[in-house]
Amino acid sequence: MTAQLIDGNALSKQLRGDVAKRAAALKARGITPGLAVVLVGDNPASQVYVRNKVKACEDSGLHSVLEKYEASMTEAQLLARIEALNNDPSIHGILVQLPLPAHIDAHKVIESISPAKDVDGFHVASAGALMVGQPGFWPCTPYGCMKMLESIGYELKGKHAVVIGRSNIVGKPMALMLLQQNATVTICHSATRDLKAMTLQADVIVAAVGKRNVLTADMVQPGAVVIDVGMNRNDEGKLCGDVDFEGVKQVAGWITPVPGGVGPMTITMLLVNTLEAAERAAG
Ligand code: GUN
Repeated sequence: MTAQLIDGNALSKQLRGDVAKRAAALKARGITPGLAVVLVGDNPASQVYVRNKVKACEDSGLHSVLEKYEASMTEAQLLARIEALNNDPSIHGILVQLPLPAHIDAHKVIESISPAKDVDGFHVASAGALMVGQPGFWPCTPYGCMKMLESIGYELKGKHAVVIGRSNIVGKPMALMLLQQNATVTICHSATRDLKAMTLQADVIVAAVGKRNVLTADMVQPGAVVIDVGMNRNDEGKLCGDVDFEGVKQVAGWITPVPGGVGPMTITMLLVNTLEAAERAAG
């Protein structure tokens, strides 16, 4: 058996089309949804990410501002910029690209963002809202994974979902979103004693570790849905996920590729969150 692909590029195209339509409707009311992307320092991967985010905004008719600062920027200077963006009515979403230079307290910076503009969904208020099932902003990567499951009409109720990874950005919010859809959820991590014993019981597996070949074919039940959040490089320097794609696709029912899977969905959900923030602000 060969798994069916969940195509993140195709789904993104569809969702970004919806975003563009909603953005046009807001514009007709005199409001252009605006995202501020703040980059501190010259991390090469971050530079690529922020460029892609700004371009995606422009392509969907959202206004975006990229603020780039030297790595020597002080924490106080960054907090002052965020305060200004919090008070700027043309900006509906604020994204501070991580990682930040070591001398800046990333937690303090994220907490300084107004929860109404927290389109990354990293603020404690956003995390709390997700936890208790109240409206807020969902972190873009797990939100994108949920949209991918929705796109194949997958019914999560009663299914066993195994999340590998417990980060605040992906693993933990992913587990909460799956739970909200009435899945039985297991979170596995670096101290899990027998990962394979867990994944072999899973109807859905989300791999979000950041390490190649965390999930191999012998660890997957026939027909399972496999979502690969990883973004790694193989020995030839090619982009690859956490899942041994060639092996696992022989066993799984559905699988997301890397590239072209979760990656584009993360940016798409950032656009969705920014639009949502603008619509809420517009009332
Ligand atoms: N660094 C890596 N991924 C992300 C993300 O989704 N948001 C932000 N702000 N920084 C990141």
